[in-house]
Amino acid sequence: DKGTYPYYMLKEIDEQPNVMRKLSSEYLNEDGNPEIEEDLLKSIKQADRLYIVAAGTSYHAGLVGKNLFETMAQIPTEVHVASEFAYNMPLLSKNPFFIFLSQSGETADSREVLVNVSKAGYKSLTITNVAKSTLSRESDYTLLLHAGPEISVASTKAYTAQIAVEAILAKGLGEADQIKAATEFNLRQQLGLVATGMQTIVDEKEKMNQLSQDYFVNASKSFYIGRGIDYFVSLEAALKLKEISYIHAEGFASGELKHGTIALIEDKTPVIGIITQKNTSNLTRSNLEETMARGSKAITIVTKALAKEDDDIIIPDVNSMLTPLLSVIPAQLLAYYTSLNKGLDVDHPRNLAKSVTVQ
Ligand code: F6R
Repeated sequence: DKGTYPYYMLKEIDEQPNVMRKLSSEYLNEDGNPEIEEDLLKSIKQADRLYIVAAGTSYHAGLVGKNLFETMAQIPTEVHVASEFAYNMPLLSKNPFFIFLSQSGETADSREVLVNVSKAGYKSLTITNVAKSTLSRESDYTLLLHAGPEISVASTKAYTAQIAVEAILAKGLGEADQIKAATEFNLRQQLGLVATGMQTIVDEKEKMNQLSQDYFVNASKSFYIGRGIDYFVSLEAALKLKEISYIHAEGFASGELKHGTIALIEDKTPVIGIITQKNTSNLTRSNLEETMARGSKAITIVTKALAKEDDDIIIPDVNSMLTPLLSVIPAQLLAYYTSLNKGLDVDHPRNLAKSVTVQ
């Protein structure tokens, strides 16, 4: 039931602070340490490499997870699109472990990979919102997203829940090995900060409505740019916008724009820069300026610590590995309002289904 909300998508965006709190209470004990079944941790520890396999938004959550697993657990991690991996499998490491990310647990492309790797004798974990879903039943282990039903076709709370569960698992793995990046990471405190930060952003949603009206409703194309995990969020932000507003949107590695794509920038083309990482913030800012010199309307989503006077959307500071949990929220809202302002059916975009059970 969507209660007083006009669309499920807005309700689900607003639920995200509570999903973060719920995950904290489901997975972290009194000391703030992850409680994850011993057998799962052991099974992953025997692996020399993690392969995250997923589709769409879940794939984007996987990209963000790579950094968490490599930093906190120090396990090399690859992230793959399921439909590609299924028929063009790369050379695997000696002892791979597979992680399937899937909100529905029913995506046929992901299942195709699961069937193949299980046949080959490899162990796997499914991170999903749906207990007893196909992927959950057919893999060795399951971690649930506890996000509550996600009804809107455009995925929002499942994306942030997936990233949070990846962080919990990465910390659990790192802690078992006394890896400093994990033991010194106060995840309970951080998820608390994330929840409060999300609330601040959703409370200012009218701002995104205004931006949508000013620069997006009449746009035919747009770009999100960033570097590192900001680039990965750009991919998700662009997917949200295109799937429900039908505006052509691309997520781009900001340094790569000048190698060709900048030719697409015209007068008033909106370009949104996501800037949350200290080591690349100035570079992304220069890349944004390069687009402005070609007439773009540049908009910034920036963490408080890196903000400058003319920035547009300031998001609260959290640990640098978790900024995607906040930087994605303005993008979700911008997509929502652009779809709404164009009079479209936000929850049921054309040509799309909630779970994709064909390959
Ligand atoms: C985008 C979206 C899709 C799904 C994709 C995978 O908003 O919803 O891209 O993320 O179809 O679905 P799951 O996560 O159910 O495997």
